[in-house]
Amino acid sequence: MRIGILTSGGDAPGMNAAVRALAVVGHARGHEMIGVRNGYLGVLTKDAGPLAADAIEGITRQGGTVLGSSRCLEMTTKDGQQKALANLKELGLEGLIVIGGNGSLTGAHVLAEQGNGSLKVVGMPASIDNDVGHAGLAIGVDTAVNTIVQACDRLSDTARAHKRCFIVEVMGRNCGFLAMRGGIAAEADAILYGEGGVTEDDIVARLDRMLRRCFAPGRDKKRVLIVKSEGLGLSVQRVREHVETLLRAIPASVDARETVLGHVVRGGDPTALDRTIAQRLSFASILALEAGLSDVMLGWEPPFGVGRETLDPSVRIIPLEEVLAETARLLDGTSPIIQRRMLLLAQVEEVLPG
Ligand code: F6P
Repeated sequence: MRIGILTSGGDAPGMNAAVRALAVVGHARGHEMIGVRNGYLGVLTKDAGPLAADAIEGITRQGGTVLGSSRCLEMTTKDGQQKALANLKELGLEGLIVIGGNGSLTGAHVLAEQGNGSLKVVGMPASIDNDVGHAGLAIGVDTAVNTIVQACDRLSDTARAHKRCFIVEVMGRNCGFLAMRGGIAAEADAILYGEGGVTEDDIVARLDRMLRRCFAPGRDKKRVLIVKSEGLGLSVQRVREHVETLLRAIPASVDARETVLGHVVRGGDPTALDRTIAQRLSFASILALEAGLSDVMLGWEPPFGVGRETLDPSVRIIPLEEVLAETARLLDGTSPIIQRRMLLLAQVEEVLPG
């Protein structure tokens, strides 16, 4: 087969591991592997070329994506989608593997549907946000969590030296997963996330409870760490102002500082786990195309019972339609996964400040 690969949307560590694994497996199994540059933009401009094995040696360990990426608004239009299908045909592609997050996988689903079988499309979830339905762990999430933990550990060192409270904002768009996973691993005293539609008053009440516990008589706490998700709906400055007011009222002579980790969380060498996920999803993606499958995503350890099994016990095949429906439930909070996550967080909230 002549198979195209593209990376799209926000880059994620492990995308390069996927590109190389796909190319290596594809070449070895007799396919012609084509790299499409800059995501869907490259489809619309027919910017694509063969992925030579020697040119991609060693990229497994690199963050970012050597193919380039984009957020391509034109692909959300009917005209853009028709042009994309025509260009993919002109490029002679029989298969397309899309590595990216929700927007990218929505594009993959549209191409698979509108291509009417002329083009087989397979998706691989890659987004630090971990907000792709049924993805288990998307490519890039583990590295992002590790980056957050390392940054929080460093901030904790300086916080302890000055007896300070740090509020750290982490990426994740509307999904609090990175804040939750990273915050607990970094011994955060509080984790603030937007899921469940919390009000500003709720947040202040939670912070008040937490700070009073941290500075209760007899305690000698040196550092307070609050990890805040990007999707909280309250700026990091506003959280800091509330913290300062609450600290004055206790009273506790502790300064507050804020740090926004921003895009730092998206870069860096992928962890071994992200490389593993990328490589194993890649292998299964090539096999899926060979089996004639289309309009599906390969997911790493999705919830029990979701999707079809592959030879790899950790990798399952899930129709993109189901993936996107679950993504919508993750976003509006009706997914059982979100409900359980919030329940667990609510249970640990009281014990976080030690
Ligand atoms: O989706 C990944 C992500 O890094 C989000 O966490 C963040 O909200 C967004 O992308 C930032 O996008 P951009 O790089 O386009 O500013």
